[in-house]
Amino acid sequence: MTSIYGPVTDWERDFDHADPEYNANVHQIWDDLLNKKQCPVAHTERYGGTWLPLTHELVREIAYDTEHFTSRSVVVGTTKPSQFDPQPPPSPIGNAPPISSDPPFHAEARRLLLPAFSPKKIDPWASEIRRICHQLIDDMGDVQFVDAAQQYSQDIPVQVIARMLGFPVQDADKFRHFVHLVLESVNEDRETRLAKFMVFDEYLTHQINDHIANPRDDLTTYLLNAEIMGNKLSPEHVGGTIILLLVAGIDTTWSGIGSSLWHLATNAVDRRRLAENPAMIPTAVEEFLRAYAPVTMARLVRDDYDFHGYAMKEEDWVLLPFPAANRDPDVFQDPDTVVIDREENRHAAFGLGIHRCLGSNLARLEMNVAIEVFLERFPDFELDQSEEVTWSVGQVRGPRKLPVRITARS
Ligand code: HEM
Repeated sequence: MTSIYGPVTDWERDFDHADPEYNANVHQIWDDLLNKKQCPVAHTERYGGTWLPLTHELVREIAYDTEHFTSRSVVVGTTKPSQFDPQPPPSPIGNAPPISSDPPFHAEARRLLLPAFSPKKIDPWASEIRRICHQLIDDMGDVQFVDAAQQYSQDIPVQVIARMLGFPVQDADKFRHFVHLVLESVNEDRETRLAKFMVFDEYLTHQINDHIANPRDDLTTYLLNAEIMGNKLSPEHVGGTIILLLVAGIDTTWSGIGSSLWHLATNAVDRRRLAENPAMIPTAVEEFLRAYAPVTMARLVRDDYDFHGYAMKEEDWVLLPFPAANRDPDVFQDPDTVVIDREENRHAAFGLGIHRCLGSNLARLEMNVAIEVFLERFPDFELDQSEEVTWSVGQVRGPRKLPVRITARS
């Protein structure tokens, strides 16, 4: 599906990150902008005005600057938040705390979630994640061709976060559908989107009420009991954080696993090295996170602001392409080459500044286990050249169809 704004012919002055061509060719597009056009900041009038800074330094500067840029909305859409929601929750809390919160409230909303995602809480999930991965491979049967995105990568994070929240695992499709609505259907009209949001809202309210009536040992009950400055969280805060965990936890990790498997399916040398030396997987995962970072978040310009000569207007969107920052030659040697044992690798895949990913322990665990189990069961596989690989659309990038041919199994 092309963007409602039509195809892009000028990536410098009329780019569209939700045009399917963007994610499919993103490395080429950044290279052309930076090196051929000498354009470190692209712009478009689409979505009511959007900027795309491309160097590590510029992305970093904006991510750290909470004075001029607000996180009130981090997903670019056709409607500005003030138009979309006639009674938006007051900044600095926002719709999905802490990602939609600004200082000083952000620190409180973040602090209460930190213990739930500490290594102590996350590490024990390793055996359950391993079990889920093996089960998915068992379910594929004894076939030669599989879709490593549809039949494997997409199911792992959704099953994990559903269990953590204490939501029915069989509702996985509902969660994926909702995440698709938030992240990919960004250029549908306002009424259609609102109606779809309402359906999910009802589902969420039902789950939360069920947890109020029947408390249990899970993240939803944890949030219902949590306090900020001596007060229980508002129902909007609990609901908003659950939505954030679904959105932040599903497509991101699915994309991270999928891109890693895409790399291995297209690079026989790296595939064999990792299959023969599973101890190298954690270092390789960091390199996959750097080279194929899945997440680009956004900010809104608070008031008209002159950013290095770019005249940004109040409520303009600014994309933060952490994936582009990760390929900046001023920060990473030979950035376009994937070096699976790269030693120095302070990548920005999990963001920069106060909103740095809170789920990174979980994301890393899921990616490591998913790749380890796939290589253990399929020590050799390659891209199925007769089928097409397709990529997601919008701010989270990863393969959505990844046809592979299994050439060895154990
Ligand atoms: C490979 C997988 C993942 C990647 C690449 C990723 C990336 C990111 C990035 C770039 C940010 C910063 C957003 C910003 O600056 O606006 C972020 C924030 C966040 N992520 Fe992740 N994420 C991943 C997985 C997860 C998972 C599994 C969870 C939890 C279930 C999670 C929860 C969060 C939360 C709660 C925030 C907001 C933190 C704050 O605002 O203080 N993420 N993530």
